[in-house]
Amino acid sequence: MKRTLGTCYYPEHWPREIWDNDARRMVEAGLTWVRIGEFAWSRIEPTPGDYRFEWLDDAIEVLGSAGLKVVLGTPTATPPRWMIDKHPDMLAVDVHGHPRKFGSRRHYCFSHEGYKAECATIVTKLAERYGRNAHVAAWQTDNEYGCHDTTISYSDAARVAFRSWLRTRYPGHGNDGDITQLNEAWGNVFWSMDYDSFDQIDLPNLTVTEPNPAHSLAFRRFSSDQVVAFNKLQVEILRRYTDAPIAHNYMGRITDFDHFKVGDDLDIASWDSYPLGFLEDRVGTTPDRQRKFARQGDPDFQALHHDLYRAVGKGRWWVMEQQPGPVNWAPFNPDPLPGMVRLWTWEAFAHGAEAVCYFRWRQAPMAQEQLHAGLLRPDSVETPAMKEARQVSDELRDAPIVASAKSPVAIIFDYDADFAWAVQPHGKDLSYFGLVLDVYRALRSLGQSIDILPPSTRDFTGYSIVVAPGMMHMPDDLKRALVSANAKVVIGPRSGARNGEMSIPTPLPPDLPGLDVTVARIESIRPDMPIQIEGSGQIVGYREELEGAAKVLMRTTEGRPVAVGNDHLTYAGAMLDLSGWKSLFRDICVSSGLRVFDLPDGVRLRETATECFWFNFDIKAHEIEGATLPPVSVTRQGKPA
Ligand code: GAL
Repeated sequence: MKRTLGTCYYPEHWPREIWDNDARRMVEAGLTWVRIGEFAWSRIEPTPGDYRFEWLDDAIEVLGSAGLKVVLGTPTATPPRWMIDKHPDMLAVDVHGHPRKFGSRRHYCFSHEGYKAECATIVTKLAERYGRNAHVAAWQTDNEYGCHDTTISYSDAARVAFRSWLRTRYPGHGNDGDITQLNEAWGNVFWSMDYDSFDQIDLPNLTVTEPNPAHSLAFRRFSSDQVVAFNKLQVEILRRYTDAPIAHNYMGRITDFDHFKVGDDLDIASWDSYPLGFLEDRVGTTPDRQRKFARQGDPDFQALHHDLYRAVGKGRWWVMEQQPGPVNWAPFNPDPLPGMVRLWTWEAFAHGAEAVCYFRWRQAPMAQEQLHAGLLRPDSVETPAMKEARQVSDELRDAPIVASAKSPVAIIFDYDADFAWAVQPHGKDLSYFGLVLDVYRALRSLGQSIDILPPSTRDFTGYSIVVAPGMMHMPDDLKRALVSANAKVVIGPRSGARNGEMSIPTPLPPDLPGLDVTVARIESIRPDMPIQIEGSGQIVGYREELEGAAKVLMRTTEGRPVAVGNDHLTYAGAMLDLSGWKSLFRDICVSSGLRVFDLPDGVRLRETATECFWFNFDIKAHEIEGATLPPVSVTRQGKPA
């Protein structure tokens, strides 16, 4: 498939006189796509029912006739001020019970029926007008669901909707909700939390001490379903008027709604990649590594998202926003090293992105993001990123095809597990996403290319290794599918540790057919109390006491089992540091016949159907297999036969 570039543009921010020149310069830089419109509601409908589409008609015409393809965003992430007068209770409410005020963005509650009706109207208007416009080649719904902690809202509207959601989840025989069923499922006998009716159930905030984890998990699942429904409402309208593909732009490490379920209604998954902002703000690495990669970004964080969104998009995915220079929102906002914008772009293509769009075309002189770089400075002079974008576009002209391939290794990613870990982390800073990133990093530093799989997967044909870390609720048919897969399978820690209602199951976990191992006890441990593993590596943060006759594959220096299993199935009962995970996976990769490396931190390999892409994030050159990888570089090689 041919790969393309684009940018994010806000014609409403700039005088009409410069649009033509902007469009011409975009084309001249080799860009194909221009995304517009996603924050423009106040200029499309300045007062209720007064639609001003002429400027948008003009902008689409200018961009399209210059040769660009337009991605049109629905503007529902930025309801205008009049909307709050019309629907004062549409604002989301935070965990402390405070409404989240107007004056930035994403100030809406996914459960507010009045706001949803307003969204349906504006999306219908846009779709009627532009659904058949030849220049509008793709659509984007809203902008970054969940960003700025906006998935969960403790509003009155959410309370009403949560009660109806619970009625359908615990339907009883009359299908109107059976409160006894809910009380049983949640274990509400504990602390006399039994309810007599669904109308008594409140949202799980402002309780004296922690609410029932079953209550919290139900609320998280409900909140996720509200995002899915909100997106679906827009998609169903758009599809009545357009055949163009529909995308949403997800944000890095936002895991509080199920992206696979949102993705089921869309044609393309896309995400917004800000490697330097993420390193400071959400990777969760050590200060030393933050310093080492301050101007390059974490070498695995973006790649994990690329692989995740390839799965969410069922193969079709983009980077909708790519950092082109310093951002404005992280604790520190450095400039990328020369070459990094190109490296990030090629990394996305190597992982299968169809398009990479730079955010944004020109730095805005006003408002919240005035310190956020673009491809152009506020005075329209090119920034260094523009030169790198141009370089990639030249390279794409010469070698536009990157052929995706199935990877040998797969990791199952389960948003529901992330909700469960968030409800009950058991130890400070223990997180499901963090565990998956650790496992991913270890496999990548062994040189592996990885596919992410949704938790609904039952057919593992074609994979050499399948890993299911931390999947708190693991349905029985998934356990059976994994145990009977042809691949080597690694499960745990904390897999199958709860039933679907957040209670401990008996038989005790992991309860894997054919493997005699039981998690007898668990402990979370201070980060400064690591436990040494025989050979190399440490247990950090969390450990399970494993009992049973299964063969011990890895043990602590005191002789306690860390991982047990057989040639086919491994159960890992701890969270490990990088060398611990590497030593566990190295043997499994070697015995699966995979090519195994011991890559330096910062050097990563991604194999496509025909090529090896080597990425060196380090400021030092590295020698791998006789080839020199220069500092901060991309090296394309033919794949060995
Ligand atoms: C993204 C967002 C953009 C812009 C950008 C700044 O999260 O979608 O609108 O705010 O961050 O880095």
